[in-house]
Amino acid sequence: MYARPVTATAAALLGIGATLVSGPAARAAGPTAPSERHGEPLVIAHRGASAYAPENTLAAVDLADRMGFDWVENDVQRTEDGELVVLHDDSLTRTTDVEQRFPGRAPWRVRDFTAAEIATLDAGGWFGAAWTGARVPTLKQYLNRVDRNHQKLLLEIKRPELYPGIERDVLRVLRQEGWLDRSHVRRKLVVQSFGADSVRAVHRQRPDVVTGFLGAPPVADLPSYAAFTDQINPSHTTLTADYVAAAHRLKGAHGKRLQVHTWTVNDAVGAARVAGFGVDGIITDRPDVVRDAVG
Ligand code: G3P
Ligand code: CA
Repeated sequence: MYARPVTATAAALLGIGATLVSGPAARAAGPTAPSERHGEPLVIAHRGASAYAPENTLAAVDLADRMGFDWVENDVQRTEDGELVVLHDDSLTRTTDVEQRFPGRAPWRVRDFTAAEIATLDAGGWFGAAWTGARVPTLKQYLNRVDRNHQKLLLEIKRPELYPGIERDVLRVLRQEGWLDRSHVRRKLVVQSFGADSVRAVHRQRPDVVTGFLGAPPVADLPSYAAFTDQINPSHTTLTADYVAAAHRLKGAHGKRLQVHTWTVNDAVGAARVAGFGVDGIITDRPDVVRDAVG
């Protein structure tokens, strides 16, 4: 059902953005490259600043930028006609008006719609009337916006088992949009997935790209993951200081300390807790809250 969530008003949220100073000097403290960080954890805006703008839209990227955050996370899937789009769920129902626009196309899966059809959907109204008109971006559109904002991207290949060969497609679009040049690869891009085979495939096809595995493999298995990934990115709900320390004792696929970026931490107490564990990054819908707590 196309429903609007209970949330603060868009006007109030825009007010938050307007009161923040923009520009590089106001950006979250922290390094540009995952391997360069010292001190407090990197703060990564999950699906953009998704507590305050509709997730995975260009508006959420822009808001994260206005709030001063360099790093954004997104989710990538593939349409029926092979276009890569930025969306979390494998169904379009929760975050678009697809049921109204295309009745009779249940279960409204991303992979059953063309890119042209998806481009007509409203991906903002569900979040609040002020966001009506936001679209599901293609990966190409998304990359161009992140670049324009001088931001950096933690790109998640979502449900790779649904999209055989999507790793090659992702790398092709990244290359076409200039994201596999030295500057992006060294400082601005991490590709992650819950699918170990997907992360392996990215590493095999482009060994220079920094990768992350989403999950918490047993400590005994971490060395085998470190062969193809640079980050182990677990849910904060199961994370412990000992687990972070075990990862940090290893070197990742590029010979640097294996990193830990945890998700999705949206409150100050939780942020302080995982920062105390020594995590390298915190992925959050509320980057302002986390920055205030750990920065
Ligand atoms: O980046 C980590 C996080 O996004 C993984 O969970 O379901 O929000 O994609 P999910
Ligand atoms: Ca994600």
